[in-house]
Amino acid sequence: MIRSIGMTVALLLLPAVALAGGDGQRLLQERCSGCHNLTGPAPQTLAELWARKGPDLFYAGNKYRPEWVEQWLQAPRRIRPAGMYYGNHIKPGPDGDIIDERSLPEHPRLGAEDARAVTRALMQLKWGSHLITPGAYKPGRISLSMGELMFDKFRGCLACHEIEPGYGGRSGPEVYTVARRLQADYLISYMRNPQAWDPRIFMPNKHLKERDLQKFVHYFRALSEEDFQ
Ligand code: HEC
Ligand code: HEC
Repeated sequence: MIRSIGMTVALLLLPAVALAGGDGQRLLQERCSGCHNLTGPAPQTLAELWARKGPDLFYAGNKYRPEWVEQWLQAPRRIRPAGMYYGNHIKPGPDGDIIDERSLPEHPRLGAEDARAVTRALMQLKWGSHLITPGAYKPGRISLSMGELMFDKFRGCLACHEIEPGYGGRSGPEVYTVARRLQADYLISYMRNPQAWDPRIFMPNKHLKERDLQKFVHYFRALSEEDFQ
């Protein structure tokens, strides 16, 4: 009964929400869809994966923390040290491969109002809800040293991810900001099975146990409390 009243209220509110998101939707189409997939599906072949110009956004509403998106769009800074596909952005240097900074363009920057409208529109893109368990993440703590031991020595995640600026692998996104950027329940779901979200992504499925999934999110939260920037 209570639930059905809630549903009715939600339905009544729907037109207003759609209207408010209208500007954002137009902006998304005009200024973002050239680089970001807003409709799905995710790349089905490696060729499609490597050709991707920006992260898929068709499940933005299940992935990002809206307050972070709104802020980042006004002052974007790099998240993937070597771009979407590192193979396109590294060149040989005297001591091994180095990142060709000039090949990494700056992200378009939005004003406050546009950022708000676009964020609202993005949060309505909700593919993947079947992969998310609301409340899956149970807040807890882990020491930075224990977290690092797991991330580096036990599981080998450091090979692809930086845990502080300039320390760690560069083919994946930095993880020292990931708890600020992404929803905790999404993190659990993604680490459990990255290919469920992105079938061709090269992050290995390590078949992490529930306990370890939780500990990694504790670790990311602890990292995000460090002031690295
Ligand atoms: C020229 C291509 C391009 C355009 C146009 C573009 N983006 Fe991006 N976007 C990227 C790339 C590349 C990244 C990854 C940046 C990184 O990892 O440092 C990105 C990252 C993002 C992220 C963070 C996603 C994540 O998972 O890390 C969001 C949110 C985003 N873009 C939203 C937008 C919105 C909204 C627009 C339109 C106003 C837009 N982008 C326009 C290329 C683009
Ligand atoms: C072989 C490289 C590789 C390894 C090893 C690896 N990852 Fe990843 N990881 C990736 C890539 C690539 C992505 C997705 C990149 C994207 O969306 O652009 C990713 C995404 C993630 C994300 C989501 C980050 C975001 O900003 O979207 C988390 C969290 C993560 N990995 C955690 C881990 C953990 C924990 C381990 C170890 C158990 C691990 N990764 C091992 C390559 C790797």
